[in-house]
Amino acid sequence: MIVLGVHKGHDSSAAIVKDGKVIADVQEERFSRVKHSGNSPIKSIEYCLGLLGIKDINEVDYISSTWENTPKELSVIFDLGDPSGKAENIAKQIGKSILGKAMGTNKLKLPIYYPNYKLKNKNKFINNNHHLAHAASAYFTRKTNDKCLIFTIDGAGDEMCTSIWMGEGNKIELLKSYYKEASIGWAYSVVTEGLHWIHGDGEGKTMGLAPYGDPSKCKGVLDKYFPEFKDDNLVKRSDLGESYYWSESGSTQFHFDESLEVEALIKKYGREDIAAEAQRKLEENVMNLVFGWIKKTGIKKIAFAGGVMLNVKLNQRIWNNRKDLVEEQHVYPNPGDSGLAVGAALLEYYKHNDFKGYEFNHLYLGPEYSNQEIEETLKIRKIKYTYLENPSIKAAELLADNKIVAWFQGRMESGPRALGNRSILMSPLKAENKDAINAWVKFREGFRPFCPSLTYESRHEYLKDCKDEFFMITSYDVTDHKRDKVPAVVHVDGTLRPQMVQKETNPRYWELINEFGKITGESIVLNSSFNVMGESIVNNPKEAIRCFFDSGIDALLIGNFYVAK
Ligand SMILES: [Fe+2]
Repeated sequence: MIVLGVHKGHDSSAAIVKDGKVIADVQEERFSRVKHSGNSPIKSIEYCLGLLGIKDINEVDYISSTWENTPKELSVIFDLGDPSGKAENIAKQIGKSILGKAMGTNKLKLPIYYPNYKLKNKNKFINNNHHLAHAASAYFTRKTNDKCLIFTIDGAGDEMCTSIWMGEGNKIELLKSYYKEASIGWAYSVVTEGLHWIHGDGEGKTMGLAPYGDPSKCKGVLDKYFPEFKDDNLVKRSDLGESYYWSESGSTQFHFDESLEVEALIKKYGREDIAAEAQRKLEENVMNLVFGWIKKTGIKKIAFAGGVMLNVKLNQRIWNNRKDLVEEQHVYPNPGDSGLAVGAALLEYYKHNDFKGYEFNHLYLGPEYSNQEIEETLKIRKIKYTYLENPSIKAAELLADNKIVAWFQGRMESGPRALGNRSILMSPLKAENKDAINAWVKFREGFRPFCPSLTYESRHEYLKDCKDEFFMITSYDVTDHKRDKVPAVVHVDGTLRPQMVQKETNPRYWELINEFGKITGESIVLNSSFNVMGESIVNNPKEAIRCFFDSGIDALLIGNFYVAK
C-alpha cells in the first residue's frame, strides 16, 4: 500500500509511506528556497512520486491531507471539485471584488506546464484533523503499540491548540482538546514577535536567549498571555486577541497586537529576563498538563508532537523530572507543521494495516545527488576539485586543523535540523569557534548555541542521564569533566543538544566523527545546518556551491569531491 501525505500551509510538505515505512519526506521550502514556504507542495509531491517511479497519481492508494477542509489549491491540483463549497465561494468572492472585474476570471486553474495529478477516484483523497495528524506522527513512530498518552501542542490548527490523545494498537482517541483559550504556542510566539523575531520561526532564539536572563525579576508579567494548567485542568484562560496574517514571498507571517505590549515590557525589564520568563511559563504549564494527565490516567508512556515540542529545554525538563512517573518519552523529531505530511500518511496507512511498532531511527528522507551529478555541477562552474576515496578522513583532518568544513552527503534531512548530510562542521574544542562560525558563515546572533554530533558509543562520556537521542530534539546536561573540553557546543546553562550518530545509520558521518576523535581525543563535532541565517538548508549541489563561495567556509566535501578555497 502506498499513501501520499500532503500538507498545504505553514511549512508545506509531502511524504510517502509504503509498506508501513516513511520512505520520503520533504518540505516545499527546500525547492522554493523561501523558509517555511506555504506554497502548494507541488515540487515535494513530484519528488515523492518520482522516487517510486510513479508516473500516474492514480497508482497511489490514498492521498492524506492535514486539514478538516480541503485547501482550495489541493482541490485544484487533484481535481476534486470542491465538496465543501468553500473554495468555490472564496474564489467567487475574490473574483467579484477584484479578479472578476480586473481580469475577467474568478476561478483557480493550473497552467498546463504543471504536472497532471487528476484523481479518477475522488474518494482516495482523505481529509484529517490537523492535531490528529500531529498525534499520528508521534504515535506511529514509536517502537511499540501499547497504551500511550499523546500530547499535541502548537499555535493552532483546526480549532485546536493543545490536545491530549490516547493511542493503543491502531487507534488514536481524543481525550481532551483546547482552542485559543489555551494556546501555549501562541503565547510563546507573541513574546518572540515582541523580541522582533519571526512568529513561527524565531522561537528557538527566544529559547536560546532565556538562560541569560532571570525570570524572578519579572515574574508574572506574561501571565495574561499564557494559559494556566494545574494538574490536568485549565484553571486560567489565556487572554490573546485576534491573530493576523501576512504573506511574504509565499511564507505566512503571523501577528498579534499583544506583541506591542510585550515590546513595552522588554523596554522595562530587558530582553533576557522576558525571554527567561516566557520559557518558565511554557515549561511550567506543559509540565503541569503532562504530569497531571499521567497521574489521572496512570499511563506512563508519553509521546509528543506540534511546534512547541521543538523546544528542547522543555523536553529536557520533562525528562529530568520523570522520576518513576514516565517509562517512555517519545518526541516526533520533526514535530512542527513540516512533519504533518508524515503524520497524515501514517494515519491513513494504519487505518488499513496493523501497527506493531516502528524503529524510526533516521530522517534522511529527501533528495540525493550522485557523484556524477555533483562532478558535472563542479565542472560547469570551472571549480577545481579533487576526488577522494574517503572524504570522512579528510574532513576529520581539516576539523582537527580548526577549519570550517561544509559536508554534503547522501539524502537531505527532513525537518529543521541538519543531521550530518547537509551540515557545516567545526571543531568544538575552542570556545572562540562559536564566534568564528558566526562571523564567517552563519551571520547569526552571538548568544545562540551550536549543537554537536557525537558517536553513539561516546554518549555517556559527554551527557548526564541521557536516553537515545538521534535528532537533537532534547537537550541534556553535559558531564562535568567534558564541559571545558568542548566549550563551543555547551550552552551558557551547561547543557548541550546532541545528535548521537550510529555507524549503521550514517556510516560516513560516524567515521568522520570517529576519526576526529582519534586525532583529538574527542569524538564530537560542532554541527550547524548548511545554510546562512534566514535561508533554508541547501538541497542540491548548486546551492551547496553557492553557499560555500558566499561565506567564509574553508572547505567543501561534497560526495567524494573535495573543494578548497
Ligand atoms: Fe500545527
